[in-house]
Amino acid sequence: MQRRLKIGVLFSRVRVEEKWIFAAMEKRGIDYVRLDDRAISFDLENPEPWRMFDAVLERSISYNTGLYALRLLNAFGVPTVNTAEVAEICGDKLMTSAALARDGIPQPHNATAFTPEAALEAIKAFGYPVVLKPVVGSWGRLLAKINDRDAAEAVLEHKATLGSVQHSVFYIQEFIEKPGRDIRAVVIGEHVLTAMYRKSEHWITNTARGGEGELCPLTPEIEELSLRAAKSVGGGVLAVDIVEHPERGLIVNEINHTMEFHTMQPLSGIDIAGEIVEYTMSVAKEKI
Ligand SMILES: Nc1ncnc2c1ncn2[C@@H]1O[C@H](COP(=O)(O)OP(=O)(O)O)[C@@H](O)[C@H]1O
Ligand SMILES: [Mg+2]
Repeated sequence: MQRRLKIGVLFSRVRVEEKWIFAAMEKRGIDYVRLDDRAISFDLENPEPWRMFDAVLERSISYNTGLYALRLLNAFGVPTVNTAEVAEICGDKLMTSAALARDGIPQPHNATAFTPEAALEAIKAFGYPVVLKPVVGSWGRLLAKINDRDAAEAVLEHKATLGSVQHSVFYIQEFIEKPGRDIRAVVIGEHVLTAMYRKSEHWITNTARGGEGELCPLTPEIEELSLRAAKSVGGGVLAVDIVEHPERGLIVNEINHTMEFHTMQPLSGIDIAGEIVEYTMSVAKEKI
């Protein structure tokens, strides 16, 4: 008889997404363990307690915690959703941009500099307005739309003086005059499950910042671009954020590797949590 698969779910707080994931595990009678990332520790000389898992689904809120846990698990030979490599790329906007550029996938024009002076020069070449972003971050935090040189100087000086080490990399993007919304597509493995618009009066459309979800019809163009983008960063369970550029059409803004879907699941009527669980089981089966 085939051995029963054992799954770990690494989480920080039980948000509604984790509630749905646990419920989907239970509904399928899956043998799973809840791994609270505030309570666990890894002993490199004793990987056996971790090796009992056929796969671990990572849902940590902290990027660092999730990334390092994935690195350890992968080093122990435990398959994870997503892999440490995917988390490394998606969690860092510059690494994502590098992957997309390598594969010729359209994205906002961007430049990177390491001093305020070099950043100012790079911005001059772009023309105003530009957007400055921390390379690691989410929920629309610490993004700055910079309309002129005075603002650029001020923001760059503040970052250089007050910012943490994260802020010493100046990641600059053209500002895109998008139509009051962007598009988020959910990719799991080889499939695009659904997409939604995130609409807002503000240029930052994250739902965490008050953006509202609206169902977006899945066009062949959205599907193709989302699948290419997901593949470019290594694939898995991913949310691909797409912006409608007034001249260039659909371009990929970023890719999230531990997506929230509390807006998307009820909106689409698709059981995203269930699909994530099914995908995790397929990764676990590949191992045995
Ligand atoms: N270059 C840009 N031009 C116009 N809007 C942008 C640009 N970059 C980001 N935005 C808006 O800000 C939101 C958050 O940006 P994003 O890069 O996804 O950062 P975060 O990781 O914090 O979500 C996007 O969903 C989009 O609505
Ligand atoms: Mg985003």
